[in-house]
Amino acid sequence: MKTRITELFDIEYPIVQGGMMWVGRAELVSAVSNAGGLGFLTALTLPTPEGLAQEIERCRGMTDKPFGVNLTILPAINPPPYQEYAQAAVESGIKIIETAGHNPEPFLPYFKEHDVKVVHKCTSVRHAVKAQKIGVDVVSVDGFECAGHPGEDDVPNLVLLAAAKEQLSIPMLASGGIGNGYQMAAVMALGAEGINMGTRFVATKEAPVHDNMKQAMVEADERATTLVFRTLRNTARVYKNQVSSKVLEIESLPGDTDFGDLKDLVAGVRGRERCIEGGDIEDGVWTVGLVMGLIHDIPSCQELIDRIVAEAREAVSDRLLSLLD
Ligand SMILES: Cc1cc2nc3c(=O)[nH]c(=O)nc-3n(C[C@H](O)[C@H](O)[C@H](O)COP(=O)(O)O)c2cc1C
Repeated sequence: MKTRITELFDIEYPIVQGGMMWVGRAELVSAVSNAGGLGFLTALTLPTPEGLAQEIERCRGMTDKPFGVNLTILPAINPPPYQEYAQAAVESGIKIIETAGHNPEPFLPYFKEHDVKVVHKCTSVRHAVKAQKIGVDVVSVDGFECAGHPGEDDVPNLVLLAAAKEQLSIPMLASGGIGNGYQMAAVMALGAEGINMGTRFVATKEAPVHDNMKQAMVEADERATTLVFRTLRNTARVYKNQVSSKVLEIESLPGDTDFGDLKDLVAGVRGRERCIEGGDIEDGVWTVGLVMGLIHDIPSCQELIDRIVAEAREAVSDRLLSLLD
């Protein structure tokens, strides 16, 4: 499976685990990279840049394969010290950074200077084209199916990837809604040179989340997510439960939504403590995507990646080859 992605990152398979708040830790990242894919540690999961440097060292102790660091740049009243996190990653020898959220342009000269490759994750064709123009190496195009922030345009991947491909010359990763190799073959046919997955990697043995959450993902189908923060134009796809339903109720009240009314319900620390660590899947907001409908087990990352590769090959040899007859 050679593509520009495997060449650029020196990995066996073009299968990437995108940054995931609270989940993208050394256990998962090293397991993905050891299985031939590319894992990303999530910088802001660590409370300080020094903590990130330690996590990078911990991950190095668990794999000698390439892995990267995700830097999610979000608007905040008291923003975290992004530049210091970037510096901690680069000074620790990280050569691949995944940026997401805001335009990564201010960080690019620093990354280029240190020979760091940048994957920028974006949810629209115009942002992908802009990212290419400012000099990122790869775009990860995240369709409406994705967990987390799908943007405000609501374009699913069957159209989004094909439309992005028409305008991109740099390699594109397909992200959002992918969980098996048949889908991998499909998005490669649309012009992607690899896949990025979040949700599917959460339901693996190595993901550092409570078993109840993994089990809930196995039991749920593709209708078990909902979109919160639409009224704030900061849409997020999360698990449909009591808390996200309450958020939607507040958002549906007449007038503008005041984030202050949602703050306690949606606090990241609540989702982490009660759901991700505590295992009460109803008592906080947690990020997950439509691909839950295709998750039926909790394999190791090695089993998952091997299976995806085998399915993708089967899709081509058994399902698509007849196109050549
Ligand atoms: C639990 C969880 C947390 C996530 N946190 C982040 C994050 O902090 N930064 C980011 O760029 N993307 C984040 N994502 C999005 C993933 O990196 C990826 O783009 C997305 O999950 C792809 O869609 P999929 O879940 O359908 O595979 C998160 C996804 C999940 C499931």
